[in-house]
Amino acid sequence: MDETNRGRLTRDGIRIHHPDDFAGMARAGALAARILDDLIPHVVPGATTAALDRMIEDAVKDAGATSATIGYKGYRHASCISVNHVVCHGIPGDKVLKDGDILNVDVTVIVDGWFGDTSRMYVAGKLSRKTERLLEVTHDALMKGIAAVKPGATFGDIGHAIQSHVEAQRMSVVRDFCGHGLGQVFHAPPNVLHYGRPGTGPELEEGMFFTIEPMVNLGRPETKVLADDWTAVTRDKSLSAQYEHSVGVTATGAEIFTLSPAGRFHPTYG
Ligand code: MF3
Ligand code: CO
Ligand code: CO
Repeated sequence: MDETNRGRLTRDGIRIHHPDDFAGMARAGALAARILDDLIPHVVPGATTAALDRMIEDAVKDAGATSATIGYKGYRHASCISVNHVVCHGIPGDKVLKDGDILNVDVTVIVDGWFGDTSRMYVAGKLSRKTERLLEVTHDALMKGIAAVKPGATFGDIGHAIQSHVEAQRMSVVRDFCGHGLGQVFHAPPNVLHYGRPGTGPELEEGMFFTIEPMVNLGRPETKVLADDWTAVTRDKSLSAQYEHSVGVTATGAEIFTLSPAGRFHPTYG
């Protein structure tokens, strides 16, 4: 397995990729992001989450790519769609979206062996002011986490940047799920925590690839997983939001592999 990958592993088991590998990640990331862009006009009151998932599955196939989630640990869908108080891993189904619902759609594709993993928030119909703030804070928390990425920084620096932004807005960071290394595998070391203390955790090195995917709740951070073994919800039923990018560490900072080609990662600021 190791021989099939160029590059080396750090003592924390984090793969250091070859400079040429960034191009493969960029292609996979661009496809995942473009699929999420194309979904935007379809997220309307009356749509079902299963219909949205079907569009995603078709788009992955049309691109000649593979869905990373279909068949993953028994999961059967091309996306996770997490509505309102669902934190993550919502299963697409016959649920009908209604005006004002917020939802995270999370897609992971495999292109030429490279994984592109991204998620973002959508609104069906009209966005309330309180909800708009949740989305803005979650988006900005992700971008502040990415801004902390550079060689010599630590994973604790990323977590701290996210947590301090969220808690200053009196919202909470979910602890039960984290980002992850990826590349030619879906989930690899390290666990990328969305909270933490500056200077703690493994040091970032050029060539590391990982996701940052903070989940933010309007209420308390605790979650529970429903009887379907996937759907994670807030225990206090408060609204939850999430944004996810796949990034690579460059000599000077981060390359974001999953930037929206249409510049529409975030529903209200483009
Ligand atoms: N894409 C998710 C992540 O960000 C993982 C989904 S796994 C699934 O890591 F099986 F639930 F689809
Ligand atoms: Co991920
Ligand atoms: Co994801």
